[in-house]
Amino acid sequence: MPYLVNEKCIKCKFTDCVEVCPVDCFYEGENMLVINPDECIDCGVCEPECPIGAIISDTEDVGEKWLKLNQQYSEVWPNITLKKDAPNDAKDYEEETNKFEKYFSESPGGTDIVKNNNNEITEKRYEEKK
Ligand code: SF4
Ligand code: F3S
Repeated sequence: MPYLVNEKCIKCKFTDCVEVCPVDCFYEGENMLVINPDECIDCGVCEPECPIGAIISDTEDVGEKWLKLNQQYSEVWPNITLKKDAPNDAKDYEEETNKFEKYFSESPGGTDIVKNNNNEITEKRYEEKK
C-alpha cells in the first residue's frame, strides 16, 4: 500500500519529502506534489519529513480520492528529486482547510535550469519523467 500526498501540501510545497525518497517517485504540480502509487515502495521515510503532515499512508481512511489524484497527476506532472524553496507565503496556508476546493491547480510544476556564463546547463533541478 503506497503513501500519498493530500491537500495539506497545496500552497505549502515545502519539498522536504523529495530528497529522501529512494525511488524518486514524487511529481510536481504548480502548487502541490503527488506520489506515484505504482512506483512507491512503501518505505515510509518521507512521511515524517513533511513539516505539516501532508503525507499519509494509503492504509489510513483516506478514501479513493487521494489515491486517484496522486495516480492521475503523477502520470502527467514532472518528476522532482531535489528540494526547492517553498512559496514565500507557504506559512500562511499551513492551517487552512478545504484547500483542494479553493486552490487545487492541474498545472504542472516548473523546471529550474541553472546555466553558467557559457550558457551551459550546470544544474537541472527536476528530472524529466522517465
Ligand atoms: Fe518514496 Fe518511500 Fe515515501 Fe513511497 S514511502 S514516496 S518510496 S519515500
Ligand atoms: Fe508537500 Fe510536505 Fe512534501 S508540504 S512538498 S508533502 S514536505
